[in-house]
Amino acid sequence: MSGHDTPIPMTASQSGPLSGVAEIPGDKSISHRSLILGALSVGETKITGLLEGEDVLDTARAMRAFGAEVTQHGTGRWSVHGVGVGGFSEPADVIDCGNSGTGVRLIMGAMATTAMTATFTGDASLRKRPMGRVTDPLALFGAQAYGRKGGRLPMTVVGAADPRPVRYTTPVPSAQVKSAILLAALNAPGETVVIEREPTRDHSERMLRGFGARLSVERTAEGNQITLLGRPELVAQTVAVPRDPSSAAFPVCAALIVPGSDITVPGVSQNPTRNGLYTTLVEMGADIAFENPREEGGEPVADLRVRFTGALKGISVPPERAASMIDEYPVLSVVAACAEGTTVMRGVKELRVKESDRIDAMARGLEACGVRVEEDEDTLIVHGLGAGGVLGGATCAVHLDHRIAMSFLVLGLAARKPITVDDGAPIATSFPIFEGLMQRLGASLRRA
Ligand code: S3P
Repeated sequence: MSGHDTPIPMTASQSGPLSGVAEIPGDKSISHRSLILGALSVGETKITGLLEGEDVLDTARAMRAFGAEVTQHGTGRWSVHGVGVGGFSEPADVIDCGNSGTGVRLIMGAMATTAMTATFTGDASLRKRPMGRVTDPLALFGAQAYGRKGGRLPMTVVGAADPRPVRYTTPVPSAQVKSAILLAALNAPGETVVIEREPTRDHSERMLRGFGARLSVERTAEGNQITLLGRPELVAQTVAVPRDPSSAAFPVCAALIVPGSDITVPGVSQNPTRNGLYTTLVEMGADIAFENPREEGGEPVADLRVRFTGALKGISVPPERAASMIDEYPVLSVVAACAEGTTVMRGVKELRVKESDRIDAMARGLEACGVRVEEDEDTLIVHGLGAGGVLGGATCAVHLDHRIAMSFLVLGLAARKPITVDDGAPIATSFPIFEGLMQRLGASLRRA
């Protein structure tokens, strides 16, 4: 739903060693896609491990508004009775995607090639985010979009009555844009081709295939070329949603900066389009063991054993790794503040159009905590103060961004003085059990 009324300030204080097992909830990207693909399939899709965060619940409501029957059977256990490709019915009211860029952009794609009109809105954060990156390629299918200045929500999309297939090279590395095009392509005749110069998370490709679409991926000189044949009959599936590596990042990074910590985080995705943070942390000298590698819910996963060493060092993160860890830069910059030396993060301008301008939000908050930071449009540089070196003692602004809130709360566990975030409520969009999970590991976390 569109935002919350009452901010929930939260404070994190220096904590003793974190220990125990962190059971991370379901992956947000895969949860959205399970509901949407379930709604576009014929038959009943059964989902286990669905993330019951606000973002995903908004997508569940949206799928009902387009005519699918979406039912919760127990914690994380859901079913979706789909209407088939091209079977959406016109929603009777505005679709409110709350805080979720993934939700709104994927759903716009899913309805853009069906003859109907839908109006989308979201909370104050989502209403600031650019939708042109999705509506430009959707226009090539024949869809029209009417939004606020700069392609902002609220926005009305008129789906194409007679859609054409499309060939499109994405101008920004974005799985949301790629996925919106692939979902639109489902109801266009013939072959749609999406080319991405830098690979982004590939859950849509894996899942579309799993639901029966004919989709191929070819590596070319231009980048990954994804071809989807339109008008398939998608067939309902059983989906076991794996745990979210982006949520796992918070307890993992907390254990790396809180002295004496030793935690286990089972079932963390090792999908190469998602695991850039873990590669980076190991390069910084983190003690992370990747145990019991296996497959869960169609994703390669491992159990992570994470131990504090106090010997992290700053590194330069290769810009070509950005897409595989785009949501993890805020918490990486927290680890960087607690490392020796400088961490340079280049090629990260996409961070400026997330739930908040994450370069700005992290830079201002880290500075308030006594950390020296440099930034330009596409770069964030953090000058580390070493283990135990961050002063803290500040209140950091969250700007309706769950990952900014969780990042500063993690920093507060290792800083010398407590750190408060002005609003912890957005954490519920992606990691509703964060507070209790962290407390059980030994984190000193409370509502201020
Ligand atoms: C997502 C894609 C990424 C990511 C977001 C989830 C997805 O966004 O930041 O949290 O599920 O496709 P972009 O496509 O804008 O990079």
